[in-house]
Amino acid sequence: MSELDLPEVLAIDRAGLIDGLASSVETFDQARAGAEALDIPFSPDVVKDVLICGMGGSAIAGDLVTTLYYERLRHPVQVHRGYYLPGWAGPDTLHLLLSYSGETEETLTAAMQALERESPALGVTSGGKIESWYGEHGVPVLKIPGGLQPRMALLHMLVPTVVFLSRLGIIPEQTADLDAARDAIGAAIDAYGPDRPTEANTAKQLALRLADGVPLIYGSEVTAGIANRWKCQFNENAKQPSFHAILPELNHNEIVGFEQAGAFGEQARVVILKDPRQHRQIERRIALTRDIIKPGVADIITLEGEGDTPLARLMDLVILGDYVSLYTACLRRVDPEPVDSIGTLKKGLATTGNQRLQAGESGSI
Ligand code: F6R
Repeated sequence: MSELDLPEVLAIDRAGLIDGLASSVETFDQARAGAEALDIPFSPDVVKDVLICGMGGSAIAGDLVTTLYYERLRHPVQVHRGYYLPGWAGPDTLHLLLSYSGETEETLTAAMQALERESPALGVTSGGKIESWYGEHGVPVLKIPGGLQPRMALLHMLVPTVVFLSRLGIIPEQTADLDAARDAIGAAIDAYGPDRPTEANTAKQLALRLADGVPLIYGSEVTAGIANRWKCQFNENAKQPSFHAILPELNHNEIVGFEQAGAFGEQARVVILKDPRQHRQIERRIALTRDIIKPGVADIITLEGEGDTPLARLMDLVILGDYVSLYTACLRRVDPEPVDSIGTLKKGLATTGNQRLQAGESGSI
């Protein structure tokens, strides 16, 4: 028994984000059905490359998909965060616009430029300008339910991204993998949910190890996007500094920093996310990295997702990370739902004005 088994400790999650995860299988089904039914009015033959445009909790779906399918991608796929589209994006580039609110400035700027460049486009949003502008221009938009925190609507972004890329032949056909992923989500909720006591619950055990420190999440290849997701969930849910890095790149720089980590080393809790699909050299690098950084960090944890396919294991690790970050919030006595700093920043930008964007004018703002 730990404090995470006490309902009064979990009660700080006032908006019920922890309980909300319990309906992830239904969310998955809804997102999959919506994406499979959406009419795509252009032929897959026109798509030569793909830009997945978004920010934050919406864009992360792009990271998860591009890193998971990287060596199976049949066309270039890149995640675009920011204002200016790359120069190469043109009429052969599919722009997949992901914005939960439909109001995120950077994503709207990308959306306008995609229209100007007469690129094929698809949107996924709960409303806002993405829905209205794209509606006016006949761009297909998958409308998803509103009222959620964007980061907690991940399946509404991730599942359609997989379905669209599969339908357009950018990645291999995914029917069986999606079925297996659905099973993995159900199993993860059972394994990591709040009803399972700490002694049998990996998510609660991890939260207890990570709540007091700075989680450093390391991924590689198929787990690279998951590492970023975990980091962002610690930031936004637990209001905790957290960072991520990727193997093998971190073997060429970050490991040296732990030689003289000083007081930061006492805070550093390293979580390494691995997968059986990784290159065998990654396995060796993980073992060596652990040995090299061990004297400079407070804790090192290595995790592998449960499941028979890469997508299923990704779902398992993503749901695990969501629960860990939410339990960590409870241990740190913070309500996981509000993200005041993001709201303050967006309000500041709105008042200092991006008038042309508000008016839906030119993309070159
Ligand atoms: C909030 C969150 C943020 C938003 C980001 C972009 O829960 O995760 O990172 O996702 O500010 O907003 P949207 O997703 O509405 O385009």
